[in-house]
Amino acid sequence: MRKIIISNFKMNTVPSDMKAYSMQLATKTAGSKNKIIVCPPYTHFCIAKQFLDGSKIEIGAQNVSDVEAGKNTGEISASMLKDAGVTYCIIGHSERRSKFKESDRLINKKIKMALSQGLKVILCIGEDKVTREAKGACAFVKNQLDDALKGIYENELESVIIAYEPIWAIGTGKTATLKDIEKMVGVLRKEIAYLYNDKTKINIVYGGSIDINNYKKIISLPCLDGALIGGASLDVDNFSVIARENY
Ligand code: PGA
Repeated sequence: MRKIIISNFKMNTVPSDMKAYSMQLATKTAGSKNKIIVCPPYTHFCIAKQFLDGSKIEIGAQNVSDVEAGKNTGEISASMLKDAGVTYCIIGHSERRSKFKESDRLINKKIKMALSQGLKVILCIGEDKVTREAKGACAFVKNQLDDALKGIYENELESVIIAYEPIWAIGTGKTATLKDIEKMVGVLRKEIAYLYNDKTKINIVYGGSIDINNYKKIISLPCLDGALIGGASLDVDNFSVIARENY
C-alpha cells in the first residue's frame, strides 16, 4: 500500500548539507511508490528544489504565517512558499504550540491561509503526558481537531494530512504502542465523520520516535496512511530505507 512518508528536520542541518542529502534521497528512493515529503528549514528550499528536481519528492515547510504580506518582519507567507516550489506546510507542531505559544485559533487561521494560497497542510495533533495520564487524551485531540478545522470545507480535506503526534513520544525514543496509535487514530477518524460525514476521507500519519528499528510495524498499521519522522530523517540512509519500503 502506498504510504505518505514525511521528514521534519526541525532546526537541524545547514543549507550546504542539502545538496548531498537531496541527491542521495532522490537516488535511493527512485521508483518508490510512497509519497515522500521533506520538510527542511526555510533556508534550504532553494537547494532542495534544485537537487530534487526530476524526482517525485515534494518539499514542505515547517511553519507558515497566518497573514499574506505587509509589515511583518521575519514572517514567511504561504504564497512565498508556493513560489519557492514548496507544496506542503506543517502547521500546529507541538513545539510551535508550546514554545511559540501558537493557539488553536492561530492554527486555524494558518490552515485557512495556506489552503487559500494552494498550499497543502500537515496538521499536527497530540496530547501531552499529563493529559494522557489524566485519561483526557481522547477529548483533548477531538477538541484540537475541532478548533483546527473550524470553517474548513469537506472538499478542502483532500489537501490536509493529519499527523497524530503524542507529545510524550516526540524525540523521547519511546513511540506510542500500536494499540495506542490505533485507538487515537480511530478517535480522530470518528471525529472527522462527526464533523463532516461517514464517507469523508482524510489521510492520517503518526509521528513520535519512529526510527529504523520500529518503523515497519507502525507504518504498516492499516489505520495509518504514513509517518512523520523527526530525528531519524536526518540520516539520509535511514530515511531512504523507510521511504522506499513497500508497506
Ligand atoms: P521525532 O520527531 O521523530 O524525532 O520524535 C517527530 C516530530 O516532532 O515531528
